[in-house]
Amino acid sequence: MNILITGANGQLGNEMRVLSAAHPKYTYFFTDVVPAENTYSLDICDKAAVSAFVTEHAIDLIVNCAAYTNVDKAEEDEATAMKINADALSVLGGQGVKVIHISTDYVFSGDEHLPCKESDPVAPRTAYGRTKYEGEKRLLAECPDAVILRTAWLYSSFGNNFVKTMIRLGKEKETLGVVFDQIGTPTYAADLAAAIFTVIECPMWHPGIYHFTNEGVCSWYDFTLAIHDLAGIKNCQVRPILSEEYTYKTPRPHYSVLDKSKFKKTFGVEIPYWLNGLKRCMEILNRKS
Ligand SMILES: NC(=O)c1ccc[n+]([C@@H]2O[C@H](COP(=O)([O-])OP(=O)(O)OC[C@H]3O[C@@H](n4cnc5c(N)ncnc54)[C@H](OP(=O)(O)O)[C@@H]3O)[C@@H](O)[C@H]2O)c1
Repeated sequence: MNILITGANGQLGNEMRVLSAAHPKYTYFFTDVVPAENTYSLDICDKAAVSAFVTEHAIDLIVNCAAYTNVDKAEEDEATAMKINADALSVLGGQGVKVIHISTDYVFSGDEHLPCKESDPVAPRTAYGRTKYEGEKRLLAECPDAVILRTAWLYSSFGNNFVKTMIRLGKEKETLGVVFDQIGTPTYAADLAAAIFTVIECPMWHPGIYHFTNEGVCSWYDFTLAIHDLAGIKNCQVRPILSEEYTYKTPRPHYSVLDKSKFKKTFGVEIPYWLNGLKRCMEILNRKS
């Protein structure tokens, strides 16, 4: 099977690259909009280029890790976010091959008090969330048997993310205020990549929308304490603050916990606890530093 991986230079794309070594029976084509070493150049918005690539390399499956992920910038430039997060999904979905796509908890309002199921009504509150929801619809219109995995709070040893920011700030500052009234589940992109391989390796193709994050819940404050603990940062006092004490350009969901029962039942897997994922990521980051 020939697998096209888009957005290969991002957090998830890089984790897919790492995990692909454990699955050598497939042939992989890693692509991104910006050319890099061992990466083909491919803009998912370029319909002609995507069609030519799929034909030339006899692609059987597209794993779409590409996205416009800057939540604040999307507010200012929703048109560009819409092109990458939604228009391009018509392009990818129209290739006549299987597609695994990644979406987000931001399709929900964040006002919920119980973990969101796939069947719960969506109500995106941000430009990013609107474009990602539109992407889900565009993909399913072209490719009804696509698999969509909605995830949240993604981090990795690759790229920039909350974990790396908190390590940097923890080393620079004596005190740090972090919100404790936003609850979610930190998700190690390596565990999401493993989930994608679970879908690929399953003897049956199970189309549909699934929720996938690590297990458990915490606030950004709890997450930061765990990051500092595992990074050995002792001289920064982390203070719990309310969202209203922090200036956000874009509203953030107060509760964005996803119910993963459907994924676990369909694919018969257990999912690692978020702190377990963080420990594995921090081992890599501590080795690198
Ligand atoms: N990060 C999170 O907390 C989070 C939470 C929930 C869901 N998700 C979803 O999870 C998926 C993976 O996220 P991630 O954090 O791995 O994203 P990421 O690190 O931002 O990687 C996305 C990659 O896609 C590339 N890209 C952008 N426009 C492209 C285009 N037109 N054609 C081809 N590639 C393009 C980006 O390149 P440039 O960097 O050069 O733009 C980047 O290398 C995304 O679908 C995202 O929406 C992420």
